[in-house]
Amino acid sequence: MMKKIFIIDGGPRKNMNTAQMVESFTKGVQDTSSEIEVKHIRLYDYDFHGCYACMACKVKGTKFHDYCGRKDGITDILQEAAYADGMVFASPVYYGDVTAQTKCFIERITFPWLSYENFSTNPPKKNIPSAIIYTMNAGEENQDIIENMCQHNEWLLGMFYEKPDRILAKSTKQVKDYSRFEFSEAMAQSHDQWHEEHFAEELQSAYDAGKRMAEKVMD
Ligand SMILES: Cc1cc2nc3c(=O)[nH]c(=O)nc-3n(C[C@H](O)[C@H](O)[C@H](O)COP(=O)(O)O)c2cc1C
Repeated sequence: MMKKIFIIDGGPRKNMNTAQMVESFTKGVQDTSSEIEVKHIRLYDYDFHGCYACMACKVKGTKFHDYCGRKDGITDILQEAAYADGMVFASPVYYGDVTAQTKCFIERITFPWLSYENFSTNPPKKNIPSAIIYTMNAGEENQDIIENMCQHNEWLLGMFYEKPDRILAKSTKQVKDYSRFEFSEAMAQSHDQWHEEHFAEELQSAYDAGKRMAEKVMD
């Protein structure tokens, strides 16, 4: 039977940095195994919210331990992704964390798996490999902020999946042509330069992570 890796893409732009990192990760998976289906979900295409706190997943005897019982635009995705063989979250960094859509999705997929009886975490499939792809304006000079954000999300997702692989694209080109926008000259120059010198390596790191995940999934 085909294995399934879900890529939950919380970025709004379809051809920019996050999209390219996702494409590279996907290629890494596909070059490693033809027995893995990659499902790329663009959250901005769906109408949904974060956890509604309806507590349907905490009612005594509930059938909603595996997936969220609340119906909205991502109900079908949540049901399928609960049984994924590999899970990837990809997001631009907005105000120091993943985007609101990404966060909403994480709440919805994981909250049913958290027990309020004994605070154990009970995803329907155990030890599923996971990864987080971040793309961001921040560069090497913001290492501390990046580290804090990554550690927090690795702690959170690590309760439900295998500790996520960390894939970063820093100092991204936020626009294709800086001359059209109100960005400082220094920012434009440094980001153009970083892009020129490092973006190919960052894409390669996404590709390598895709290969690693595929190998784990097929193991
Ligand atoms: C609303 C908004 C908030 C942002 N906040 C941050 C931030 O806190 N830290 C950061 O490093 N970059 C921040 N950025 C920049 C984006 O994370 C970065 O350009 C990213 O690579 C964009 O991804 P995309 O090209 O796939 O859209 C922000 C961008 C937007 C639009």
